[in-house]
Amino acid sequence: MNKAHEFNRQRWNEVTPVHVESEFYDVAGFIGGRDTLGPVERAALGDLSGKRVLHMQCHFGMDTLSMARSGPAAVVGLDFSDVALAKARDLAERTGLADTVRFVEADVTRADKVSGGAFDVIYTSFGTIVWLEDLQGWADTIAANLAPGGFFYFLDSHPLSMLFDGDHVEPRVKYPYFHNTQADISPAGEIDYADAEYKVQNEGHEFSWPLQDIFGTLEKAGLRVHEVREYPFTAWRQFPDMEEADDGYWYRRQGNAELPLLLGFKAKW
Ligand SMILES: C[S@@+](CC[C@H](N)C(=O)[O-])C[C@H]1O[C@@H](n2cnc3c(N)ncnc32)[C@H](O)[C@@H]1O
Repeated sequence: MNKAHEFNRQRWNEVTPVHVESEFYDVAGFIGGRDTLGPVERAALGDLSGKRVLHMQCHFGMDTLSMARSGPAAVVGLDFSDVALAKARDLAERTGLADTVRFVEADVTRADKVSGGAFDVIYTSFGTIVWLEDLQGWADTIAANLAPGGFFYFLDSHPLSMLFDGDHVEPRVKYPYFHNTQADISPAGEIDYADAEYKVQNEGHEFSWPLQDIFGTLEKAGLRVHEVREYPFTAWRQFPDMEEADDGYWYRRQGNAELPLLLGFKAKW
């Protein structure tokens, strides 16, 4: 595993137990039946019954298991954090979904062929490619695991939204748009996004990936991009003025400039 990814793996191993206990992730609500996928993701995925699904960067498995509740033939969650996968397997047992779901430990940029065969649906969302140093490896993993006739679905921060300083309501550019081979390093002591009381001890190594790289790597892997969508809301409070609506997404206060905050698309053969 490359150095940046090893730093990140240690960081994710550290924060996962904090996340499992956090209000942000609301594990009790999930065990009680809450669907952790929002209406945008559900509409894009459609009917999962009978499908083979691969969830890339599954963290401790709540989205994976939410999909497993929708009648697929099989779901595989993939992540490189052994701590997250242990929690995910425990959650699968506690929710009675262990027969449908399998969790696989792998670096998503090096997962040529995930055991379990070709997948009809490959899913990834919210806080994914920013952790990856090698986006072509990510696209190649998708191509290696996507069945003919299947689709990959992506929903995550719009690359433009990553430019702005989240401490200010009015958009202020703080970060570069284009890819830099040098990681943007979050130092030890930063507050965790799911628990403001917790200071993360391990460094994070993050990378910006503009649209040309997201689409370009998939194109190079042989896939075609479809159904590109941009949304003026997110799944968390990205700016101080944001409020959560009944649909579970966070919106800027009315009258404040709408920004492209989420990017969704599919890729197919
Ligand atoms: C923000 S979480 C994924 C989002 C998920 N929707 C959630 O919030 O539960 C990011 C996940 O990516 C995983 N990850 C980061 N880099 C990875 C890599 N190179 N290979 C596999 N998993 C990776 C981390 O371990 C973590 O579980």
